[in-house]
This record gives sequence, structure tokens and C-alpha cells, in this order.
Amino acid sequence: MLENKKILIGVCGGIAAYKIATLVRLLIKKNAIVKVIMTESAKDFITPLTLATLSKNAVESKFFNSENGVWTNHVDLGLWADAYLIAPATANELAKMASGISENLLTATYLSARCKVFFCPAMDLDMYQHPAVKSNIEKLISYGNKLIPAENGELASGLFGEGRMAEPETITNYLETYFNPKNSNLKNKKILLTAGPTQESIDPVRYISNHSTGKMGIAIANELKERGAEVIFISGAISEPILKTLKVINIEKNITAEEMYEVSKKYFSQIDIAIFTAAVADYSPKEISNEKIKKNEDEFTISFKKNKDIALEFGKIKTKNQLSIGFALETNNEILNAKSKLEKKNFDMIILNSMKNENATFGYDTNKVSVINKNLEEIHFDLKSKKEVANDIVNEIEKLLL
Ligand code: CTP
Repeated sequence: MLENKKILIGVCGGIAAYKIATLVRLLIKKNAIVKVIMTESAKDFITPLTLATLSKNAVESKFFNSENGVWTNHVDLGLWADAYLIAPATANELAKMASGISENLLTATYLSARCKVFFCPAMDLDMYQHPAVKSNIEKLISYGNKLIPAENGELASGLFGEGRMAEPETITNYLETYFNPKNSNLKNKKILLTAGPTQESIDPVRYISNHSTGKMGIAIANELKERGAEVIFISGAISEPILKTLKVINIEKNITAEEMYEVSKKYFSQIDIAIFTAAVADYSPKEISNEKIKKNEDEFTISFKKNKDIALEFGKIKTKNQLSIGFALETNNEILNAKSKLEKKNFDMIILNSMKNENATFGYDTNKVSVINKNLEEIHFDLKSKKEVANDIVNEIEKLLL
């Protein structure tokens, strides 16, 4: 599962550094490509020779080689890695990372890395409990890094308690889950997903709607279900087949934006994740005529009122344990518009569809999307089947849960 994944390990100077030999062996056995950076003090605990031999790559620890002047490019290392794992992460290096100090190759690479960073604290009992360390850990988590918590047990000092670095097998599991979300941390998560179009009546025989078929929403719902999530699927009338195991609300009859909002709202407080794939009408006629409107006039005007924005309303009240994922369908200034929706609606991630892409969007079985996360980083995917696109999107959602 870690085949060809590029794992960069940053080893700090702590007694748990000896466990990195086992960790590197485990990762290599799983066909990962491993490179190691060591701080100078890490070398007091384990030799570069051991880690270079096991990882099959030279160990880096200096900004440049004083013998021949060759520069070790921390930016390149940071860009090379698919995941950067700081283990053991000592109080000292954690503090540097949390404050942006790039005093050695390990921390400079941390600041340059674009990949997910995992950190495995290891220190003595009272150090791990110290408010300064705790606040640095909190800070690092808030920057999007993933904590692999220290475990309970006997510490090198002889004290018992929290502070032991996670075991190599546990660390490997974290990496495998990150790269293979089918192992899935979406299992048993309660997810609300809106899909399809809404319809806003004008009179008993006419309505305003859009071309949404709900295909993308269905593909995502199916993928979530396959990974063990409980999906509440709220949609307007769609004709595509749907997994029977989804909790489906309203696919037979047409639904207005107002109705979709009312029904979604009932679930807001119970769900872990909301995914808004629906193409909800932004406006609806101020008045719906009870009788069929006759063509008596040469010109005809309808007055509209703004509808409730379901995603926006959820974004206002969602808790820190809830995630919301939005979609943006754009015809121009796509990235800019998507980013502004991400911020405005308090999304944790937004998926952009551009009407300029051929064979993508409404009705097609293929789609081409870009995913933008809260840090405004963009991932651009190729044109793929909607099933594959759903897989990519759900993989990205899994990453948000790590
Ligand atoms: N959305 C929603 N309720 C609405 C309108 C939109 O939940 N009343 C959600 C959509 O499901 C989508 C996201 O908000 O996930 C963005 O929808 P979109 O129609 O692209 O954006 P709008 O906010 O309607 O902006 P505009 O039409 O001006 O582009």
C-alpha cells in the first residue's frame, strides 16, 4: 500500500531514535522510497550509517557539504516527499517548527514541505505535559500537520506515563491510512449529501431549474457508502439509479431550494460531514400563479426572491468537529470564484467544475475537477469517469480527517 510512496523521515535527538531503524525497515519492506534527514544530536543516538544502509539512500543533515561545497537543497527535499515524518519529534525541534525557526536542515525542510507532515513526539513524562510543549503541539496541528500521539508506558527515565514515541507499526499504519483511504476513516461517519437540481415553480405547469442530473452526487455517495459511511442523500428528482443502502430523501418528486434547505437543516447537528453537490436555484419566483399564466402580453417579467443558501447556513453554525465540502460550477475566473466561495461559505474544501472543460459537468459520464483546500492549495485532476472523480474527491475528504 505504500509502494513507491516517497517518505522523508526527519530524525531528532531523542532516545526513541533507535526505533527509526525498525521503522525504515518496515517502510522499505512495503516498497516505500525512504530518505532520512538527521539533526546533529540525533547522531548521538543512532548512526547515519545504519539509516543510510537501511533506507538505501544517503542520510542528509547539513545544508552543505564542507568538503566539496555541495548544497543540500531543503526545498527539493520538501518537494520530493509525499509525506514528511518527524520522528522522534523532540520538544526542542517541535518548538522550532511551531515558531518557524529554520536553524537546521530538518526544520528548514519542514518549512519548505508541501506534503502532509506527520510528527511523533517523544519525550519524558513532565516535558510532554508542559504547557509550552502542549501549546506547540496544538499550534502544529492548527497548521495542518498530523500528530501521531505519544503512547503510555515506561519511559527512558524510568517514569511511567505518556511520552513514548508511537511504535513503528503504528506509525506505518498512519501512513497507510493516509495513502489508502479505503482503509477508511470514513467508516461510520454520518454524511449529508445534497444532489441534483431544484425546481422553482412559476405556475402549475412551468418551473425554473438547471441541467443537473445528480450523476456526480450519486457517484460520490456510492463511494462514501463503499467506504463504510452512513450517507443521507437529499436530492430533487433524478432518474439515475441509486444504491439502495443510502438513506434517500426525496428523489421521486421535485424539490424547491427552500424544501431542500428545510430537510437538510434537520440533520445539521447530527452529521460529521456535509457535501453540497446540489445545483440549488439561487432565486425563486416571488409569486407562484395558481392558474396557468396566459400569453396575453408581448413582454412578460417574473420577479424573483433570493433563496436560502444551504451551504452558507451550515457554514455559519458548523462545529470544529464538522466538515463541509462545496462545489463551484464556473464559466469564468474559475479559480478565483471557487476560492471566494470556499471562504464565504466556510468550506473545508471546494471542488471546481469549469464549464469550459469539454465532456465534463452536466449529464456527461466524465468530469474534470480541481480541488482547493482551506490553505488555498490547488490539485488539478485529469478528465476521468465520474466514478474515478468520486474516488479522487473522497480520497481528498479522507485526508481532511487525518
Ligand atoms: N449552494 C447551496 N445552496 C444554495 C446555493 C448554493 O447549498 N442556495 C451550494 C452548492 O451546492 C455548491 C456551493 O453552494 O456546493 C456553490 O454553489 P454555486 O451555485 O456555484 O454558487 P453560488 O453561491 O450560488 O454563487 P453564484 O451562483 O453567484 O456563482
